Amino acid sequence: MSTLPHGGAVELSIAPRAATDADDDGPEDVGGTGIGPTGRPRRHIPEPSLIEHHGPARVLAMCNQKGGVGKTTSTINLGAALTEFGRRVLLVDFDPQGALSVGLGIPAHQLERTIYNVLIERSVGIRDVVLRTCVENMDLLPSNIDLSAAEVQLVSEVGREHSLLRTIRPVLDEYDFILVDCQPSLGLLTVNALAAADGVLIPLECEFFSLRGVALLIDTIEKVRERLNPKLEITGILATMFDPRTLHSREVMARVVEAFSDIVFDTVINRTVRFPETTVAGEPITTWAPRSAGAKAYRQLAREVIAR
Ligand SMILES: Nc1ncnc2c1ncn2[C@@H]1O[C@H](COP(=O)(O)OP(=O)(O)OP(=O)(O)O)[C@@H](O)[C@H]1O
Ligand SMILES: [Mg+2]
Repeated sequence: MSTLPHGGAVELSIAPRAATDADDDGPEDVGGTGIGPTGRPRRHIPEPSLIEHHGPARVLAMCNQKGGVGKTTSTINLGAALTEFGRRVLLVDFDPQGALSVGLGIPAHQLERTIYNVLIERSVGIRDVVLRTCVENMDLLPSNIDLSAAEVQLVSEVGREHSLLRTIRPVLDEYDFILVDCQPSLGLLTVNALAAADGVLIPLECEFFSLRGVALLIDTIEKVRERLNPKLEITGILATMFDPRTLHSREVMARVVEAFSDIVFDTVINRTVRFPETTVAGEPITTWAPRSAGAKAYRQLAREVIAR
C-alpha cells in the first residue's frame, strides 16, 4: 500500500514549463482599424497618473456565481498589472478552495492562520495573516478550506454582512486597490464582499450559458446597494476566454455589448493555454510571460480600471 503525502491528500503535481514568451495569441486589433474585439471602436484611456501617496484603497469584488469564468485568474493578473503602474495591491482570497493562494505558489492548506481566523477570532488581526507574494507591492490575505466554516458561523453574528469590511478596514490606507476573489456562489461570503466593495468587476466567459446568470448577479448587486452599501457600483464586465476565430464567441460578445454597452471593458481576455500554465508556475502572466498577449491584455485592463 502506498503512503499518501500531506496527511492523506494526493499530490498531483505537474512540473512548470518554461515560458517562451512568444506573442502567440493573435493581434488585439481587428485589422488595425481601431475596432476592438468588442466590435466597438476602442475608447481613449488616459495614461495612469503617477501617485505619491498610497491609499485609501478602492475595493473591487471579482464576482460571478458561475464557476470557472476567470475570477481568480483575473484577480491575480489584474493585481500584478496594477503594481506595474505603481499601485500597492492586496489580494483577498475569499474562496475556501484557496485557488488564488495556490495560483501564487502559496501552499494554503498548510497555513495555520488564514482569513478565516481574522473573520472569526477577535484576537487575530489582518496584519497577522497577510503574506507577501512573488510580486513586489502585491500582498495576499490567504484562504483555505477553513473558510467554508465561516459561512455557517457568521450567520449568528451581529452585523454578519459587514464582517469582511471590518476585517480589511485597518489596512485600507496602506493599499491603492484591494481585489476580493469571490467564490462561485451568491451566499453570505459573496454578500460580504459586495458590502465591503466600492465596485464589482464581473468576469464573463464568452459562452452562451454565461449570460443567463448575469441578471441574477446584477439583481443581487442592486439589493446590496439598496440595503447595505449605497456606494456599490458595477466597475465593469470583463469578457474572458474569448476565441476570436469562432463565430460563437463573436456572437456572445455582440450580445454582451448590446445588453451592457459601456460597462463592458474594451479589454477582452482571449482563451489561451497560457493561463492554466501560469497556475502551475504559481505566478502571474505579467511576470511569467511578460510580453505575451495575455500579459498585455491584463495591463490594458489595469489602465481601464484605474481610469474608471
Ligand atoms: N483566458 C483564459 N483562457 C484559457 N483558460 C483560462 C483563461 N482564464 C482562466 N482560464 C483557466 O480556466 C480555469 C478557471 O479559471 P479561474 O479559476 O480563474 O476561474 P474562476 O471563475 O475563479 O473559477 P471558480 O468559480 O471555480 O473560482 C482555470 O484552469 C484557468 O487556468
Ligand atoms: Mg476562483
